[in-house]
Amino acid sequence: MRIIASVPAKVILFGEHFVVYGKRALATALNLRLNVEVSDRAEGGYQLNVENIPSFGLQMELTGTKAQPFIDYEQASRAIVYIRYAIRYLERMYGIDGGVVIRVRSDIPLSAGLGSSAAASVATIAALKRYFGLWNGDLEELREDAHNVEKAVQGSASPTDTAISTYGGYVLIEGGEVERLYDLPAIDLVTGTICSIPLGIGPEQLDELRLKTRKLVENVKARKEAFSGVFEHIASAADALTEEAIAALRHHDLSGLGCLMNINQGLLDSLGVVPRQLSELVKLAQESGALGAKVTGAGGLAELGGTGTVIALPSAGQSYKLAIAMGLTGALVRNLKTNAEGLVIEEEPV
Ligand code: PMV
Repeated sequence: MRIIASVPAKVILFGEHFVVYGKRALATALNLRLNVEVSDRAEGGYQLNVENIPSFGLQMELTGTKAQPFIDYEQASRAIVYIRYAIRYLERMYGIDGGVVIRVRSDIPLSAGLGSSAAASVATIAALKRYFGLWNGDLEELREDAHNVEKAVQGSASPTDTAISTYGGYVLIEGGEVERLYDLPAIDLVTGTICSIPLGIGPEQLDELRLKTRKLVENVKARKEAFSGVFEHIASAADALTEEAIAALRHHDLSGLGCLMNINQGLLDSLGVVPRQLSELVKLAQESGALGAKVTGAGGLAELGGTGTVIALPSAGQSYKLAIAMGLTGALVRNLKTNAEGLVIEEEPV
């Protein structure tokens, strides 16, 4: 038997960081997917094959005719820590006992604010549960399982990413609660990911990159504490932005939506989470005809090369032109659509 679980990437359209303080945020699923395939293995145990994750690669030392792996496997295995934890969690909670090959294929770049960790957790758990006859179609239970794995790896995690990977569509997050929004249309987005840092990065920086969201959230907290009166106004403005953005989307008012994205970008900049690399990409998109552009997710740190993702809203028929302009910076650029489908599980006899 072969099971394939496929889940989407997530993007926060409005309200990141402020959502940590109970304000509203709007997130959606992108048509950029991660697949986990589980099939039989006679020897028992778990064999894991990870293929083509963008921004994650093994660096090679080319000496003579032979290529020597340069990055040690301990470092490389950090990229699959969510899968290892998911297996451990399922062994403990549901008594699964191996005898499977797990193959992961992903188009979602790592550490880029596009929900690769949650996608890996949700798809691994769904595929293994189905393989071992534990899948009852309960998406709530799956989301909770995956959220538990994220918390075990990261210490804490917002429910946003696992909700989007599981349900797809759009979700509103408020005060830690997730509400699915069914009446919003799919729109085109151009994403630009700065992900040049992982090649040649040292072990300490790799750890820092993994903890980037935590560090940025801490930096924002420090700013909030230092200027609490000012922060409260900015956070209220962000909350109002999310509300107006939902109304604009509902009415297919894309120029209004773009303008709200530009305002949100200004608020994120005021928090200190927008390094030069991401700021330049936003400005370039805005000057190249985007209706709006902003950083999505936690943002970036200058000392880590500004790794992170920008989303830009193209005007009608202009997606490809905008993508070409953004690609000139060397960013990994994609033309994508929001409101993508959530978890899909397929079963194939072999
Ligand atoms: O960059 P990401 O995908 O880790 O998103 C972080 C979003 C924050 O609002 C900054 C933190 C959170 O837990 O919501």
